[in-house]
Amino acid sequence: MADKASLYRPLKARVDKVITESPTIKTLVLIPESEFSFKTGEFIELTLNGYGEAPFTPSSSPLETRRLEVTVMKTGYVTNKIHELKPGEVVGIRGPFGRGYPIEKFYGKEIVIVGGGCGFAPIRSLLYNLIAIKEKFEKVILCYGSKTPEECIYKPFVDELRRTERFEVYRSVDRADEGWTEKEGVVTILLEDLKMNIKNSVAVVCGPPVMMKFGTLKLLEMGYPESDIYLSMEKNMSCGLGKCGHCMMGKYYVCKDGPVFTYEEIKNEPDIWL
Ligand SMILES: Cc1cc2nc3c(=O)[nH]c(=O)nc-3n(C[C@H](O)[C@H](O)[C@H](O)COP(=O)(O)OP(=O)(O)OC[C@H]3O[C@@H](n4cnc5c(N)ncnc54)[C@H](O)[C@@H]3O)c2cc1C
Ligand code: FES
Repeated sequence: MADKASLYRPLKARVDKVITESPTIKTLVLIPESEFSFKTGEFIELTLNGYGEAPFTPSSSPLETRRLEVTVMKTGYVTNKIHELKPGEVVGIRGPFGRGYPIEKFYGKEIVIVGGGCGFAPIRSLLYNLIAIKEKFEKVILCYGSKTPEECIYKPFVDELRRTERFEVYRSVDRADEGWTEKEGVVTILLEDLKMNIKNSVAVVCGPPVMMKFGTLKLLEMGYPESDIYLSMEKNMSCGLGKCGHCMMGKYYVCKDGPVFTYEEIKNEPDIWL
């Protein structure tokens, strides 16, 4: 179990493996020096000695406490350094922080999950959790979009999901190549063909801000109530503890009150899609 101290003092974790998912995305398999627990959708701060830290949502199953995976897109200073890590090196983990997915509220329902780019990271953790208790849900549909086929991540996991009872996977890419046999276009086109019982369904959206915005608008147009659309929000963060104010979104501290919110909760807050 993560003790409370790991909110402030990083727990050491050894890099066991580095998986290249796409030209810009890598997954680190970490072995913490003691057990580390989190709920799916909560996030950690990954610390690199001498460089700084950055928030990431674990992409592994929350049911595993002896290993942790984080999937990192290269965007700047800290993430560039993370991409240079090699097996055997040691990083720090602070957390877990925030409020994750309220999975109990999904029991008995159909779940549609809309993801894009590196937004698949928290979604994969959620899917591992849902697979472990799959008899509690009617069905789970993943709609995932990326820019190109080579940027589609977690290919072995997607294959496994396609073979799992009650789970369906649909993918689209903005620009297909000749080997691509799935849809071409933005991820919202996948929602058009879905056969969902919206009255008994919830939606989860995670990805780049523009995808979150248009995904949410499409779900609203399809008839999903604002209270049944769950969004995982990303804001610049520092303390992770509701102290520094870096992550404020209107009246909310995203680090403490989120990062998972319903659309109903945040729809009137400023700049939610920035
Ligand atoms: C709760 C949470 C969970 C996240 N989970 C993941 C994850 O699983 N995988 C992943 O790859 N990324 C995730 N991110 C985003 C990740 O934290 C940022 O990409 C990272 O902090 C950038 O650090 P940097 O030093 O490399 O970039 P910087 O050099 O600081 O900045 C480079 C660019 O990235 C932008 N940026 C910086 N911080 C953020 C941020 N927090 N969100 C969005 N853009 C940012 C800057 O505006 C700038 O344009 C998450 C962010 C949050 C808040
Ligand atoms: S990150 Fe410091 S208040 Fe949220």
